[in-house]
Amino acid sequence: MGVPALLTCSIIGLVLVSSCLAGFNDQFTEVWAPENITPDDATNSVTIRLTQTAGAQFATVNSFLYGYFSANIKLVAGNSAGTVSAFYLTSYDTNHDEIDFEFLGNETGSPVIVQTNIFVNGVGGREDRIYLWFDPTTDFHNYSVVWNHEQVTWLVDGTPIRIYKNIESVLPNSYPSHQAMGIAHSIFDGSSWATRGGAVPCNWEYAPFLLTFKDFAYDGCTVNSNDITPCTSASNYQSNWWESAQYQSLSSAQVSQLQQVHQEYQIYDYCTDQTRYPTPPAECSYNAI
Ligand SMILES: *[C@@H]1O[C@H](CO)[C@@H](O)[C@H](O)[C@H]1NC(C)=O
Ligand SMILES: *[C@@H]1O[C@H](CO)[C@@H](O)[C@H](O)[C@H]1NC(C)=O
Repeated sequence: MGVPALLTCSIIGLVLVSSCLAGFNDQFTEVWAPENITPDDATNSVTIRLTQTAGAQFATVNSFLYGYFSANIKLVAGNSAGTVSAFYLTSYDTNHDEIDFEFLGNETGSPVIVQTNIFVNGVGGREDRIYLWFDPTTDFHNYSVVWNHEQVTWLVDGTPIRIYKNIESVLPNSYPSHQAMGIAHSIFDGSSWATRGGAVPCNWEYAPFLLTFKDFAYDGCTVNSNDITPCTSASNYQSNWWESAQYQSLSSAQVSQLQQVHQEYQIYDYCTDQTRYPTPPAECSYNAI
């Protein structure tokens, strides 16, 4: 926690304490290429960039086990082919857990792909891909993950685009439930795979590629000193709002929304990729809508 920030806060007084505490250095650490990370505490935003030399990554100081994690993001404008921007939860151990939003760039006027994925105990390979129903490069839009003991829900502007149920009781090691995760934000060069399967690499004439995150709303069960029990013992966690019934399963209205996303915008689902998985992975039937 930065001493200058604390001093500023105590001088300004109690009224502003919560915004003081939300300063970049209080909430985040620069993980990769600080020269490509530009925080703006006045607007509670962070812009990161990709150059031919390096991308960038920043992540929360705290790690969480379950919670609600939402940010407003404006994606790389113009020609973003070959770039990958990411907003994701990740643990830092070997055999890590991870819950992803990845944005695969495209040429000007061609659609960005939103790829979601989930890793449990080091195993991923659960990609889902959609196009968006708006241009994500002209305005900020809201990308959220709700992660509780029952399911993970990915939302875009409040519309569910995917769910992943906890079926640990029938399929052990299939749900992120043992490892605290931090929230990471990054941009990197995905020339070899991101756009039309790698056919369109980054065009460095358009660099630097910029994207902005703001309005971070991260409310989870914080894990201190690697002690996860406050987040996993029922007597403690059940009162957390993100564990409540309305986040344990989709409402019928949300089911309709997700069905519409599947019908109109989904372009890939690992569950139906028979080349890769001749027998669909066991969790697929539980997550079908
Ligand atoms: C994101 O959208 C949700 C509605 O689903 C809203 O509750 C939340 O406040 C929004 N978050 C931000 C950071 O704008
Ligand atoms: C880019 O646009 C092409 C069509 O021009 C489309 O096939 C592709 O899915 C789009 N997105 C990515 C990330 O390749």
